[in-house]
Amino acid sequence: MSAWRWGVYRVSYYVGRGLIRAARLLAYATAGVLTRKELGRAAAGRWSDFGIDETYVLSGLFTWEENFYFRFLKPDDHVLIVGAGSGRDLIGLRRAGYRVDGLEPSATAVTLARTMCAKAGVEADFHVGWIETTSITEKYDVFIFSWYCYSYIPDRATRIGALRAASRHLAPGGRIILSYTVTEPVTRYLPRAVAARVGRLAGVDWTPLPTDVIMFEHGGLHFEHQFLPGEIEYEAQSAGLTIAAHQVGDDGLIMLMAD
Ligand SMILES: C[S@@+](CC[C@H](N)C(=O)[O-])C[C@H]1O[C@@H](n2cnc3c(N)ncnc32)[C@H](O)[C@@H]1O
Repeated sequence: MSAWRWGVYRVSYYVGRGLIRAARLLAYATAGVLTRKELGRAAAGRWSDFGIDETYVLSGLFTWEENFYFRFLKPDDHVLIVGAGSGRDLIGLRRAGYRVDGLEPSATAVTLARTMCAKAGVEADFHVGWIETTSITEKYDVFIFSWYCYSYIPDRATRIGALRAASRHLAPGGRIILSYTVTEPVTRYLPRAVAARVGRLAGVDWTPLPTDVIMFEHGGLHFEHQFLPGEIEYEAQSAGLTIAAHQVGDDGLIMLMAD
């Protein structure tokens, strides 16, 4: 092996790693500049082209979704899928016989979901918006926050506000089902400090938490809060909800009730 080629490899390796770290810090700093609302908009851009493959959209519910959701759904339930995306889980539930509507902040994803519903021969109402700010006009028996959607809501107060919004529109005996990502305590001091410092300077209205993960993704900013033990319980309790079922493994699944 020639020395110069190996030298090029070593230099490229360290420069490349430095650029990856710089991009990561830049993502946190960028999020720090944005208000909560702007961060939500940047995050919605990230979801615009998620799951656009037709085979994926028509593939139906995942096994974990069937196993958890069907434990709590009753045949006549009217369900709102929060974070309906391009429609995969909504179409799966419609095919299983449930009355299901969808809420999704990405207008691009909703356009695709409508087309895919027509292809699948199912009907559903879609609303474009965020669960925490959309004015919901109906009562639902079940709110399903789709695949990790709850983790993708930036800011603890906003997540609690989202649970409260769902809770206000629950029919008697209603249920809120959600999945979330979990983690061990981590020491992400530098990125979080960068986002917090930039946020203070920019005067924004939210503060990052140690286990928030922020990165650039195609179409926008990916935001994800990974939950430490006890956090989901705290947020559910703060929203005035009771935990009726909870299972934690590689990720978390929880069913909440208002009464
Ligand atoms: C992993 S995708 C799931 C999409 C689709 N349900 C599926 O399984 O293919 C999560 C979805 O949650 C949506 N989402 C994120 N934050 C949201 C919020 N605050 N309110 C409603 N939906 C949200 C995203 O736009 C994204 O479409």
